[in-house]
Amino acid sequence: MKILVLNGSPKKKSDTFRMTDRFLKGLNQTQEHEVRIINVIEKKIAPCSGCFGCWQNMDGRCVIGDDQNGILDLYREADLILWSFPLYCYGMPSHLKALLDRTIPLLKMKMIQEEDGTVRHEALVDFSKKHTLVLCGCGFPDWEGNFDALRMQCRQCFGNLTMVCVPETPMLNVPAAAVVADPLLAAFEEAGEEYGRSLSLSPETIARLETPMIPKEAYIRIVNGI
Ligand SMILES: Cc1cc2nc3c(=O)[nH]c(=O)nc-3n(C[C@H](O)[C@H](O)[C@H](O)COP(=O)(O)O)c2cc1C
Repeated sequence: MKILVLNGSPKKKSDTFRMTDRFLKGLNQTQEHEVRIINVIEKKIAPCSGCFGCWQNMDGRCVIGDDQNGILDLYREADLILWSFPLYCYGMPSHLKALLDRTIPLLKMKMIQEEDGTVRHEALVDFSKKHTLVLCGCGFPDWEGNFDALRMQCRQCFGNLTMVCVPETPMLNVPAAAVVADPLLAAFEEAGEEYGRSLSLSPETIARLETPMIPKEAYIRIVNGI
């Protein structure tokens, strides 16, 4: 399987990528996959200019001549696109959002209405066999609502979607928290194996991965230094 990993953390030592790294390790245990990791922050990806030149040309390319067209080539070829990023203001970091916006050359202007009434653009490439995995970490403890906007956006934008949203991820890079971080990272490795076998994760596995490492009140006390 060709896997394109879009690492959206701007940091060298990403909390989120620690989970992604272990997930990929598990995934590669089932079978050796071709994994291509893009550190999006290192790429030149201008914001979409909204010109719709891509829809005039209908060639699957963006008219802006920066790094995005190379990423679109990889996007088209990939069987699995793994988005790994921290939650920023309840969404994805802006440099990654620029990349997402500029995938519209892979769609047509033509609109399709689904049976449930939703409307989307017809795809220019075959997305039906592509899978999307979103692994998102965040700094808040677990609370209802923190990931809502992101979940909604990803459901609208991606097909064959599996999503894992993990609270308290700064703890993954704190050596003193290893006693709770290591079991979570081990669970990510197991989840990678599961995904490699079935191209999906069971609700139980997702629930395990999204379970806070420590209770909300304890986390807030530690962050506040009290
Ligand atoms: C600009 C900015 C916005 C953030 N917004 C949120 C947020 O909305 N919710 C949240 O829980 N954490 C938020 N965080 C915290 C990060 O998601 C958290 O520190 C994460 O562990 C960083 O992951 P990384 O090391 O992979 O980049 C924000 C951090 C930054 C720098």
